[in-house]
This record gives sequence, C-alpha cells and structure tokens, in this order.
Amino acid sequence: MAPTEDAARIISEVSAKNIDDCVRVSSFTHELEESIRGHIHEELTSWLFFRKLAADCSRANIALHGFALYVYLPSNTSGLAGQHRVDVFADDDSLWERSAIESLADAHWLEKYLQRGGRCKPTDIEAPKIEFSDNPVEPVGPVREALAVEKRILEDLERLMALANKVGNYSLAAMLDKRFLCKQTRHVKDLADLLQQVVRVSKQPGLGIFHLDRELRCHDGCLPWGKSNDPEMIDCALQSICTTLGKEEKLLGNC
Ligand SMILES: [Fe+2]
Repeated sequence: MAPTEDAARIISEVSAKNIDDCVRVSSFTHELEESIRGHIHEELTSWLFFRKLAADCSRANIALHGFALYVYLPSNTSGLAGQHRVDVFADDDSLWERSAIESLADAHWLEKYLQRGGRCKPTDIEAPKIEFSDNPVEPVGPVREALAVEKRILEDLERLMALANKVGNYSLAAMLDKRFLCKQTRHVKDLADLLQQVVRVSKQPGLGIFHLDRELRCHDGCLPWGKSNDPEMIDCALQSICTTLGKEEKLLGNC
C-alpha cells in the first residue's frame, strides 16, 4: 500500500474511534465514575453550606472576626496538598470561606479527573438550611453542623477510596490518599476541637465567645491547637530534634 493510502487509512480508523474510550482505562468503571460524580455533588453542597456560614458571620449583627482569621496550617511535608492550600487561600478569607474554597477546589480537581474518559453530569444542589443565630449569637449549632459536613465528606471519600481500590484504579486511590484523605481527617478533628471550645465558652453567653474570638485573633489566624492535629507536624518536630542533636554531637566531636 502506498504511503498516502496508508496515512489515509490510519486517519479514517482513528476518526471513527471514540477517543474518550481510548483514554479510559479498564479500571475506570461506570460505578467508579458515578461515585466520583456523587462526591463532586457532596463537595459542591458543602461549598454552598460554607458560603452561607461565611455570609452570616460577615453580618454586623454577628461580626466574628476572630473566626474570620482562621487558617488551615500549611504543612511542609504534605506535598501537593500542602502547596495547594497555600496557593489557593488569600489572607483575608474567613474560616468558612476557606472551607468553601477548599470544597470548590476539590470538586474542580475531581471534575478534571472525570475527563479521563468519563463525563461531568452536574445535579441540582440543595440550598443549605443553616442560619447563624444572632439574637443571641449562638455558634454551637453552626459549628456542630460544619463538623457533620466535614465528617460526611470524609466518609464519602473513604467509600470512594474503597471502591477505587476494589476496581484496581490505583492512580485515583493514590491521589485520594495524597490530596484528600490526610487533610480531611485533620479538618474533622480541628472542627471537633473547635466545637468543644465553642461549647465550653458558650456556658458564659457573650463573654465566652468574645474571648475565643480574641484568642483566634491573637494567633494570627491559626487555630492554637491546629499543629497538634497534624501527624506530619510530629514528624517535622522529630526531624528538627534529630537535626539539633546531630549538630550538638558534631560540636562535641570538634571539641
Ligand atoms: Fe475539609
């Protein structure tokens, strides 16, 4: 066959193919695709929920500016996930705004993953029913609800991870482990600690929440207990101790 005829045959063959099928690996099953879409829906629902809390906390009647300074601590050792957090969040985002941005970013990431042979099929997002009470300002209900939302995301991620492993889609499983699960586990614990603090201070209406709000402001926007919830920070601390001990041994050796 002449070279031009050969080229024409190849072009004709490829033109007739569904390129999505060429991209799609066999472990990217329809069940997995549906579960990814389900998790995107979960993240977008959470995004709207956190947006609503952010809007409520910005009202003059509530004005919880200490909460507005909250940041997720960037971790030196969490690779892309840590880098991503630093890049995405601006300094003036609030606790809830950061949570909302993170949910949106995660939904976006999974939407990109779907494009490896799958399809994006958005579904209706239910409006959040939460209302941050302002008379009196009552943060326990909203923080408890936020904890439930973070936990729901974590449990859905675990289901997705289990399915990815079951069907042998190890690339998704690895990324879920690296990018999503570690930080999400920490978010649940961070919010559980915040809930405990909020419950404790709410026993003195008004004054207690004022002090917690001020404590959050005094820590430059970081949850004061945030570091102790990140196992990777323990690794960093150990590494730092070992480095210091190594330097001291070297100095002693030189004496
Ligand atoms: Fe989260």
